[in-house]
Amino acid sequence: MKYKSQKVAYWFFALSMLLLVLQLTYGFIMGFARLGYDGLHEWIPFNTAHTVHLNLLVVWLLSGFMGAAYYIIPEESETELWSVKLAYLQLITLAIVGVTAVVGFHFNYWEGRKFLEIPRILDWPVALNVILFLVILLMTIIKGKKTSTTSLVLFGGLVAAALLYLPGMITFDSQVLDSFFRWWVVHLWVEGVWELIMGGIMAFLLIKLTGVDREVIEKWLYVVVGLTFLSGILGTGHHYYYIGVNNIWLIVGGIFSALEPLAFLAMALWAVNMYRKGEKKHPNKTAILWTLGSAIVAFLGAGVLGLAHTLPQTNIYTHGTLVTAMHGHLAFWGAYAMIVLAMITYVLPNVTGRKLFDTSRARSAFWLSNIGMFTMISGFGAAGIAQVYMERKLGIEFMEVQNEIKVHFWVLITGATILSTGITLFIIDFIKYGTPSDEALEIQE
Ligand code: HEM
Ligand code: HEM
Ligand SMILES: [Fe+2]
Repeated sequence: MKYKSQKVAYWFFALSMLLLVLQLTYGFIMGFARLGYDGLHEWIPFNTAHTVHLNLLVVWLLSGFMGAAYYIIPEESETELWSVKLAYLQLITLAIVGVTAVVGFHFNYWEGRKFLEIPRILDWPVALNVILFLVILLMTIIKGKKTSTTSLVLFGGLVAAALLYLPGMITFDSQVLDSFFRWWVVHLWVEGVWELIMGGIMAFLLIKLTGVDREVIEKWLYVVVGLTFLSGILGTGHHYYYIGVNNIWLIVGGIFSALEPLAFLAMALWAVNMYRKGEKKHPNKTAILWTLGSAIVAFLGAGVLGLAHTLPQTNIYTHGTLVTAMHGHLAFWGAYAMIVLAMITYVLPNVTGRKLFDTSRARSAFWLSNIGMFTMISGFGAAGIAQVYMERKLGIEFMEVQNEIKVHFWVLITGATILSTGITLFIIDFIKYGTPSDEALEIQE
């Protein structure tokens, strides 16, 4: 690491890891409940577990993005962070709001809008927290010696993500309008501005790990950003097919969302080509594995599995089934979970000064978690296709179908166990690295 203040990143990553463990725990609660083992039902019914699972996912990813930004922005701007104290304050308040929301969910203190379940009162501290985060970054960029494309795309993505949170805070009497604007947050995040955040982190990691010229890497970044905007904004229409808005969205959503995989394809080609072009001299091979893995799995999960159900002609059958869960898991995993884990793998040796990378444990963490995730989505996928056929083609009653597809949840639990083993190894490494130290300053990266 070059700047002492980059150590802040470590604590955001530590919070991330804690929340990830909790997220997986609630995943298991749901998986077992689906199999009929619902012993916790009285305290944690399925809907509570679902809400906690999704919100913890979003918060651990955001905490990961924030850690990444606190590491990347000082390095790219060639200056210390504007205020380390405020960054720690931001971390603590983020954790407090997160814990309050999660505890609240267990007492039915929530709103029934998938992904945006946090009660609107709590949206205000979230907004304040994010403003503080952005101010710290902006002041760092302003006082810095350099402004790079990478840091601007990352910062731009974070600002846009904050702005797009606002439509979700408006109250509507109409269910149609509520749904319309909910997608501005959910869709425009994962298929718009979060892609910029991912692109910024990807560019930084490729610059550091492949040794290819910044100019070349940042040119690709422009292409990714361009394709994202071209397809992702109007691609929101793939959530407007059947919510009660104008029929024009069937055509607009179909066409533009079918173009969305191009941005993820570009990301994958970018990562693989830069790796091929590079000198392959960087010792942190596991960080390269996670970085390339993220680009490739994001293309499969978001691009390929997204395309599979994005046309209105197919979505009319698959909408809201476990086919969606199959796609949601692999897309979130590849694009956002893996890029955060890539960043952590790159940053840990730099902030602690301990070079524990490239061990068999670190590699096993990568392979086991990925094999586990692919096993999980094969379970979801098989269940989803069977569900579509029985429920939507044969017209069999919903709960009866759920009973028929139960067996696939054993595959889900098997995959989840393999995934959790991989994540456990990752966290063992995280703990073994120990806490950051100033002695790690200027150590060769
Ligand atoms: C990393 C990027 C992506 C992530 C994290 C992601 C995640 C998700 C999630 C979690 C849902 C369920 C949302 C809900 O019901 O509240 C969803 C739905 C959907 N996604 Fe994606 N997605 C991504 C990219 C894409 C792309 C590129 C496409 C199209 C090519 C796509 C097509 C769809 C469609 C059509 C639905 C609606 C499914 C339904 O009707 O039930 N997604 N996505
Ligand atoms: C221990 C591992 C996990 C298990 C057992 C698990 C299980 C589940 C289950 C049972 C659901 C509800 C599906 C339904 O009935 O509709 C669900 C939803 C979801 N989970 Fe997981 N999960 C795990 C890990 C993860 C991870 C690592 C991610 C993200 C990277 C993730 C993201 C999601 C998303 C986005 C949804 C909503 C899907 C949708 O919109 O249909 N899960 N999970
Ligand atoms: Fe979408």
